[in-house]
Amino acid sequence: MGSLTHFYGKIIFVSDMKKLIKLIDENLDKLLPVQYPQEIFESMRYSVLAEGKRLRPVLCLEAARVFGGKIEDAIPTACAIEMLHAQSLIHDDLPCMDNDDYRRGKLTNHKVFGEAVAVLAGDALLTFAPQLIIQKSNLPSEIKLRLLEEYCIAAGAYGLIAGQAVDIESEGKEISPETLEFIHTHKTADLFKLALKAGAIIAGAGEEKISAMENFGQNLGFAFQICDDILDETSTFEELGKTLGKDKAAQKPTYTAIFGLEKARTEVICLLDNTCGIMAKHGIQSGVFCEIIDGIKERATKC
Ligand code: IPE
Ligand code: IPE
Ligand code: MG
Ligand code: MG
Ligand code: MG
Repeated sequence: MGSLTHFYGKIIFVSDMKKLIKLIDENLDKLLPVQYPQEIFESMRYSVLAEGKRLRPVLCLEAARVFGGKIEDAIPTACAIEMLHAQSLIHDDLPCMDNDDYRRGKLTNHKVFGEAVAVLAGDALLTFAPQLIIQKSNLPSEIKLRLLEEYCIAAGAYGLIAGQAVDIESEGKEISPETLEFIHTHKTADLFKLALKAGAIIAGAGEEKISAMENFGQNLGFAFQICDDILDETSTFEELGKTLGKDKAAQKPTYTAIFGLEKARTEVICLLDNTCGIMAKHGIQSGVFCEIIDGIKERATKC
């Protein structure tokens, strides 16, 4: 791991998402051994280790590197954030939420393990994640405390849960652009912000840089969710690993439903331009960030 840190510390313009993803996958596997009661751990592993894009943990590791931190110091937090994300997916897919049968190209958690185990696996991930930050991070206590505060805000009723609650209650309704912004900010951008801010906090960056990461994450997360809404209408199961057309069927007031595909694409490009502007303003050089920005732009505009 030491040489990898050195590698990333040195080569600023050479993006290597694949190596970061491999590092995250190996650590997620190690951090979640199966023990008694087996089924709950198997259910947690089923969703966490399924092939996801690992965007949030990669953003966390890269933010740590960008601000002069060590990648290995950020690994437990990056893995914790991916576990929180996996929790949000398991619960988002439940019949009482979006009622989805496929996720990451496989049957959803509740389809394999049943609803009771899926609910518990989500709860277990939500609580195991901060446990990891406390027990596995080799960081000063005040940094851990700050990370935990950010985690709780992003995961709870001031963050993701607020977004999910308004998302669900808005089905079949006309909502204002402000309400849509609230949904996107909380259900999606809050985890991007958490990942980026956490990386900066771990690296010991100052408040100005931490808030630059917050702004970066808000724009990136927003662009990502609009792109997800576009793809729900235009992509394929093979590419997405989830059932298409679900938003329209559930009468979700998504960005595309309200503003149409063309405006959605323009907005993604505009938000991604903002992220590039934030990087330039703060002198952030990161091939990994650029690769993620370009990837979202490509996905949003190609079909
Ligand atoms: C899915 O996130 C949930 C949304 C915020 C749209 P991802 O598209 O990042 O899911 P994985 O991690 O790659 O499965
Ligand atoms: C993503 O919203 C938000 C969370 C999963 C928390 P979606 O409901 O649009 O995500 P997908 O499309 O099911 O991945
Ligand atoms: Mg949803
Ligand atoms: Mg969903
Ligand atoms: Mg979606």
